[in-house]
Amino acid sequence: MTSAADLWNSLGCLFAIVSLALVVAEAGGPPVNYEEDQVPPYTLPDPLVMADGAKVTSAEMWRTKRRPEILELFRTHVYGRSPARPEGLAFKVFDNEPQALGGKAMRRQVTILFTGKEDGPKADLLLYLPNDARRPVPAFLILNFQGNHAVSTDPAIRLSASWHRDGKGVEKNKATDAARGAEASRFPIDRILARGYALATIYYGDIDPDFHDGFKNGVHPAFDQGRRQPDSWGSIAAWAWGLSRALDYLETDKDVDAKRVAVLGHSRLGKTALWAGAEDERFAIVISNNSGAGGAALSKRIYGETVEVLNRNFPHWFCENFRKYSAKEADLPVDQHELIALSAPRPVYVASAVGDRWADPRGEFLSCHHADPVYRLLGTEGLPAKEMPGLDSPVMGAIGYHIRTGGHDLTAYDWDRYMDFADKHYGRK
Ligand code: GCU
Repeated sequence: MTSAADLWNSLGCLFAIVSLALVVAEAGGPPVNYEEDQVPPYTLPDPLVMADGAKVTSAEMWRTKRRPEILELFRTHVYGRSPARPEGLAFKVFDNEPQALGGKAMRRQVTILFTGKEDGPKADLLLYLPNDARRPVPAFLILNFQGNHAVSTDPAIRLSASWHRDGKGVEKNKATDAARGAEASRFPIDRILARGYALATIYYGDIDPDFHDGFKNGVHPAFDQGRRQPDSWGSIAAWAWGLSRALDYLETDKDVDAKRVAVLGHSRLGKTALWAGAEDERFAIVISNNSGAGGAALSKRIYGETVEVLNRNFPHWFCENFRKYSAKEADLPVDQHELIALSAPRPVYVASAVGDRWADPRGEFLSCHHADPVYRLLGTEGLPAKEMPGLDSPVMGAIGYHIRTGGHDLTAYDWDRYMDFADKHYGRK
């Protein structure tokens, strides 16, 4: 089946190639490194050593001193600082269908009013709950790239009215019926329901459109009050904040076990899931699918996409301070293994794909490896592998990891492993 999802993937690859060509072509820009023996030496900060040199020797010290210190560094230098839960936050359930998808699921659609106002920023949450499972059910919460209506051909899903790409570039384009199910390959809903999980999803463009217009669109203006700082939240932080607001809703939904919500995302939305898990400890499990640079991959390891490329191509994703580290990764006071560690001791899963060199699979594995001491200090088994596992051979401790055959995508194989991982940690098997 050639679907819009395939088209999206091809566009993604094309984009990566174009980005790559740009880097090589621009005077003074470094070529992209794909050679393991060309990775320059680098030194990672020790997650178990405080900025003042003190060693972290207990779980208590991690929780009360080091974790807050690392979190602050990421807010200040990488993703930016997000607002608290808005006082006026409101939810409006506009669809409740007990017999959706041929009777397999209950469908619920909810508008999240971020400021409580109809004319303020808002996002639609789509929820499918298995009819065959005892409620409340655990859920996977995931942002989608193309609109809720693209995750399934279910004609009752409300068409997204937010900004959309039109395939040619960045444009404001209304979604049409033709886009229904376009991203369905990344949402194996039947499989998810059959294993007793709920699926909750929001279109990321509802929260913040994915292009740079000086933070005048999406949720930013409602909370920035005209003041932007070098550490103000970027788009990744905004998307992550939106996931927390979705969890605020799920906590009110009696059919969902809000203590068992796994946050998951692919690619830029995998970066987002990791930041959401770091900022919001209510997420029970945190899953990064092919998140790469600015996500699970180490920044100081120069391989594939770099901080400089991220900042050049996506100036709206991170906070302004992050630009200081373009081609100066050694100066970063944090690295991405510490982002993984911010989820500890909660289970975290990082997945790579062998064809996704742009995302640096080895750098993603190494992040897990270097987060392991934190997990062990906290009394979990950490990552049960010293070396990178072979293809399609997942390892699952408190940290899970796999590298899959194939390219940059979120596949049924990935989902099956995430559900195995959730089953394991929820004691469902
Ligand atoms: C580009 C970008 C990556 C990102 C990816 C995606 O390839 O360079 O950082 O993860 O898009 O979100 O699809």
